[in-house]
Amino acid sequence: MTAVLPQPRSKSPLERVASPRRYLMCRPEHFDVSYAINPWMDVARGVDRELALRQWDALRRTYLDLGHQVDVITPEPGLPDMVFAANGGLVIEGRALGARFTHAERRAEGPAYLTWLARAGLKDVAEPVHVNEGEGDFLVVGDLVLAGTGFRTDPGAHTEVQELFGIPVISLQLVDPHFYHLDTALAVLDDSTVAYYPEAFSRGSRAVLQRLFPDAVLATEADAVVLGLNAVSDGRHVVLPSAALGLAVQLRERGYEPVGVDLGELLKAGGSVKCCTLEIRA
Ligand code: ARG
Repeated sequence: MTAVLPQPRSKSPLERVASPRRYLMCRPEHFDVSYAINPWMDVARGVDRELALRQWDALRRTYLDLGHQVDVITPEPGLPDMVFAANGGLVIEGRALGARFTHAERRAEGPAYLTWLARAGLKDVAEPVHVNEGEGDFLVVGDLVLAGTGFRTDPGAHTEVQELFGIPVISLQLVDPHFYHLDTALAVLDDSTVAYYPEAFSRGSRAVLQRLFPDAVLATEADAVVLGLNAVSDGRHVVLPSAALGLAVQLRERGYEPVGVDLGELLKAGGSVKCCTLEIRA
């Protein structure tokens, strides 16, 4: 006879709780790599737009299947990077700050997203003063905003966000051009946990992250270079690039449910899951 032994408590996985989210996305109808503003972009390489559309549709479907709401903004011709909705603004507690892009090639996306935000039924929508690339460089972790700088977002925008939302902003210095936006180097897993690639940050910023998040998931170079940290979590399910195999294992060990998706075509522009997703926080 086999005795049924009680499972040791430490072996039972942590129960992570998902909360329903509202996302904004932009279908890559005009997606292309026709200029190069980050090291991932090679104008000679060519993109398969049909494939990009299919991959994007699968990401949207993934969110819907997880029970999230997905709104879409109309893509505009001549704005091949508009698919990267994360850069379109920052929305916290029903209030939005619009984006102001670093590069001329993307500048017209600012007003396009601002117009959408102004009609989204939010309490307040502010026009940006300083250069900021939205949730590419601003990530909300519980009652904090982590803010990247070094390649795109001006540090002045960090103060602007703190003043506008009244939420403490922690400035982080990015040092590797492959990880030019904060959301390429750090993923928010829930209100108190992040995953990040330490080498993408300056020494001081690494120390800050270590102090704030001693239990953070540390990503390997192999997972970082497939933009594995460009992930979107609902507190339980972490939607991430399927090539980030090691990170998926680490997340599972922590009780999260990794959901891999392939956005290989969009990676040619230096973007993946999170870049395609702007969270609209009520
Ligand atoms: N090609 C785009 C750029 O360089 C990619 C943006 C990716 N977005 C992001 N949130 N990291 O601006």
